[in-house]
Amino acid sequence: MNRRDFVSKTVSASVITSVASQKKSDDSQTNRKRFEDKVVIITGATSGIGKAAAFAFAKEGAKVGFCGRRENLGQQVQEDIKNQGGEATYIKADVIKADELKIFIDSIVNKYKRLDIAFNNAGTVMFRNLHEIEIEEWDNMFNTNTRGVFLAMKYQIPHMLKTGGGSIVITSSMHQVSTRPGGSAYAASKNALMGIARAAAMDYGEKGIRVNLLAPGITDTPMFRNATGGTPEAIERAKSIIDSLKRIATPEEIAEVALFLASDESRYITGTSILADGGMMAG
Ligand SMILES: NC(=O)c1ccc[n+]([C@@H]2O[C@H](COP(=O)([O-])OP(=O)(O)OC[C@H]3O[C@@H](n4cnc5c(N)ncnc54)[C@H](OP(=O)(O)O)[C@@H]3O)[C@@H](O)[C@H]2O)c1
Repeated sequence: MNRRDFVSKTVSASVITSVASQKKSDDSQTNRKRFEDKVVIITGATSGIGKAAAFAFAKEGAKVGFCGRRENLGQQVQEDIKNQGGEATYIKADVIKADELKIFIDSIVNKYKRLDIAFNNAGTVMFRNLHEIEIEEWDNMFNTNTRGVFLAMKYQIPHMLKTGGGSIVITSSMHQVSTRPGGSAYAASKNALMGIARAAAMDYGEKGIRVNLLAPGITDTPMFRNATGGTPEAIERAKSIIDSLKRIATPEEIAEVALFLASDESRYITGTSILADGGMMAG
């Protein structure tokens, strides 16, 4: 590219920026919410990070379809979101079961008529020395954390292609970057997600679909509490290994990163991972 082309392209970019800021200010004048008219599907929103994200998306105007296996919790989340003036639909589905996942996704799209955002978040954790891991436990880890994401995307992407694109956010983990003793199955299942995100970003970038990972650090959810016992000592121990912020994340803080990756504010980010670990991996 010669200098003239470069300058003219730079000028066009600044015109686009100014049009974008004009639109942003128009949106704020009309009080338009960030995800107004958007349809979001979340796997694993009966508790923890997924639940926090379901509330946050709904608060920002999205229609939220979500799954999980615990029906009582799912119904409660749906009811609570509706009581707060949001729109949400819970459908019981296990991400290990391809038929249940497909019915869940197709039913949400059938109800809300499109799919803009997918937050593939359902996951399970286990720490055990490798030779002590049962084959069934290894398979369950991969079937949930890795195959479950593949299946969800397999059934979500055709809907996104029909309407010209979307954003897919997948919950990985800081174990994708650096793991702990006993983390072989969990770290391996989460590391595989980077390969999925990178390749899918290339498969669908031109079709308007972005794919990114959200890699949380230690987050105060039932998963964390179950894995550590959730005692005050366990919480203090967790805080003490986060050298930078010296505290564990709230599910709401991690959900905010998911919303950023889902939104147009991250429109130039795809095929990568955002680590939200309070600086734990900085050392
Ligand atoms: N908490 C942390 O410190 C931390 C750190 C890094 C990454 N993560 C990741 O964050 C994600 C969310 O975990 P969380 O911490 O929020 O834990 P959580 O509170 O236990 O939530 C896990 C969610 O996944 C759902 N789920 C699990 N297996 C499922 C299956 N087979 N089918 C459908 N849904 C399933 C659970 O719903 P049901 O049980 O109702 O099915 C629940 O809604 C996971 O992918 C986890 O690996 C968590």
